[in-house]
Amino acid sequence: MKVSVIRKATFNAAHRLYRKDWSDEKNSAVFGLCANPNYHGHNYRLDVKIIGEIDPETGYVIDLKELNDIIQQEVMERFDHRNLNLDCEQFKNLNPTGENIVVVIYNILRTRIPAKYELQLKLWETEKNSFEYPA
Ligand code: NI
Repeated sequence: MKVSVIRKATFNAAHRLYRKDWSDEKNSAVFGLCANPNYHGHNYRLDVKIIGEIDPETGYVIDLKELNDIIQQEVMERFDHRNLNLDCEQFKNLNPTGENIVVVIYNILRTRIPAKYELQLKLWETEKNSFEYPA
């Protein structure tokens, strides 16, 4: 009997979407306001979903405190109040789109979540735009 356990986290970060090899005009045309040269911020929301069997001894799928500690160490300490383009090595050469951010976070968290669990992430960039990985 598998159950999903979901922990929500929120973080603030700045970014700019652009390609160095494109003109300012083309970057604006493709990335709109997110191409603003002086960066801008988003209030990101991340839903971390863990799917697994209920442990008959504890009644838990996963200890939410332990899950929260992992999210704090791996997501909050790395990305909260950062400029994703300038401060975060993961995005030195990778456009910090919602799509790329959710995959980067997945790959980091996957190394910390035991293999017996399925992991699914949903990243909200705005109230209207969200990204899920695995799709
Ligand atoms: Ni943006």
